[in-house]
Amino acid sequence: MDVPTEAVAALLAQARALVKQAPPVVPDPWPYPRWIAHRGAGKLAPENTLAAFRLGASYGYRAFECDVKLSADGVPFLLHDAELERTTSGHGLAARLLWADLSRLDAGSWHSRQFAGEPPMTLTALAAFAKANAGVMNLEIKPTPGTEHETGRVVAAAAAALWHTAPVPPLLSSFQPLALLSALETAPQLPRALLLDTLWPGALDVARALGCVAVVTNHRIMDAALRSRLRRRGLRALCYTVNEPADAQRLLALGIDGLITDAVDRFAPAAEASISPPPAAATPAAAAPPPPRRSTPRRRPGSAAP
Ligand code: G3P
Ligand code: MG
Repeated sequence: MDVPTEAVAALLAQARALVKQAPPVVPDPWPYPRWIAHRGAGKLAPENTLAAFRLGASYGYRAFECDVKLSADGVPFLLHDAELERTTSGHGLAARLLWADLSRLDAGSWHSRQFAGEPPMTLTALAAFAKANAGVMNLEIKPTPGTEHETGRVVAAAAAALWHTAPVPPLLSSFQPLALLSALETAPQLPRALLLDTLWPGALDVARALGCVAVVTNHRIMDAALRSRLRRRGLRALCYTVNEPADAQRLLALGIDGLITDAVDRFAPAAEASISPPPAAATPAAAAPPPPRRSTPRRRPGSAAP
């Protein structure tokens, strides 16, 4: 749900007062890489697991999006859905389980045998990965319904502590204004972004009231007019989930600041020329230039020699 409730609307006055005390500073220059790997490595590895972040990094990605929610005992961990069935060996609502029980689930077998036994990941483990790999994170606060306030508070507090010495702070994003309000109350120094699947009435005013530095939209609703409106409000523009070269070309032409993609094997983040559609006879992986050499990139069968 991405429409603010009446309760949220009432709390916006509180947000405005907080933002007035500590106006958001839009990082300049913008420190987030333009290409951001969705859920770690898109669909090539089990989403939101360490295996995914490692795979994304092997393709040259430095920036990663992931989904963070809370266990029953308040441990921030990575999972997209409220329920466990789609991406783990567990059942039911994830928020009902203690982290000790969640940590024993298999979050890899659903994807493929190669990843069988891959465990769910805590935010603490993600911070360790980020530090070891000079990774930059976009933490999507993904509350289990009804826990928006608590999840925003706990994730923001944990992120502030875990990334305390990081050169680039994590960008906290959410579809839920309440979660962003809690993040603002808890860790106003961390940059925030409002996620928009649709451009609901007043959305940009809500983003401003929450002291957001950016808006992250479904790429289908981004156009020149919206890009201009965001610029006029001093908001950066990011889009999800951009998997087709034609979409990427259109968005880059609009000057979009960040593209969140599943297609880590198609888009080489260091080379925007890589968004050219692949020749008809070539596979997407073969058409894309190799990833940059920050870490040892994974060579795909048939990929161009570096
Ligand atoms: O944060 C961008 C994108 O991840 C939002 O959608 O459903 O993939 O979390 P979803
Ligand atoms: Mg997400």
